[in-house]
Amino acid sequence: MEVTREQAWETLTRYTQSEALRRHALAVEASVGSYAQRFDGDEELWRATALLHDFDYEIHPTLDEHPQDGAPILRQEGWPEEVIEAVLSHAEHLAMPRDTPLKRVLFACDELSGFVHACGLVRPTGIDGLEPKSVKKKLKQPSFAAGVHRDEVYQGAELLGLELDEHIRNVVESMRPIAPELGLRTAAA
Ligand SMILES: [Fe+2]
Ligand SMILES: [Fe+2]
Repeated sequence: MEVTREQAWETLTRYTQSEALRRHALAVEASVGSYAQRFDGDEELWRATALLHDFDYEIHPTLDEHPQDGAPILRQEGWPEEVIEAVLSHAEHLAMPRDTPLKRVLFACDELSGFVHACGLVRPTGIDGLEPKSVKKKLKQPSFAAGVHRDEVYQGAELLGLELDEHIRNVVESMRPIAPELGLRTAAA
């Protein structure tokens, strides 16, 4: 099979009807894709992996199924092991080594993209003008986007060898061009 983000979107949307989950996939895709060049990765494969990382969450909403029971489905569809292994590695409970740049970037972008998304949803201008400082302030409020694991956000930046500020800035910038698809308002609108 040809590994393309289009093919991944097709797989994702066949298993995922929830708009929120599709938007999460797009946000993570944007962030992961933006790091491909920097870490010498295959951008198309990285984007496909990001789109697929939670593809089975709707059918496997608990950690005793997600994402491990999704892997055989991806295998059957012909996705390469590189993609499948990276998808599996995003899950903390599977405790797999994050031994490739793709695995590290996916892990580092998953929770933070979700958190930045949440920040944007409560701002009148979405993520336009969203500064790392205010993201970090919100990270310290446990009640805000309580489902986002803060420790994974901090660990992710560290894993990439980036300052948290820079990582936040990169994620915000990568999501900005697709703000409308993410359901975010923009300063212009
Ligand atoms: Fe997940
Ligand atoms: Fe995710």
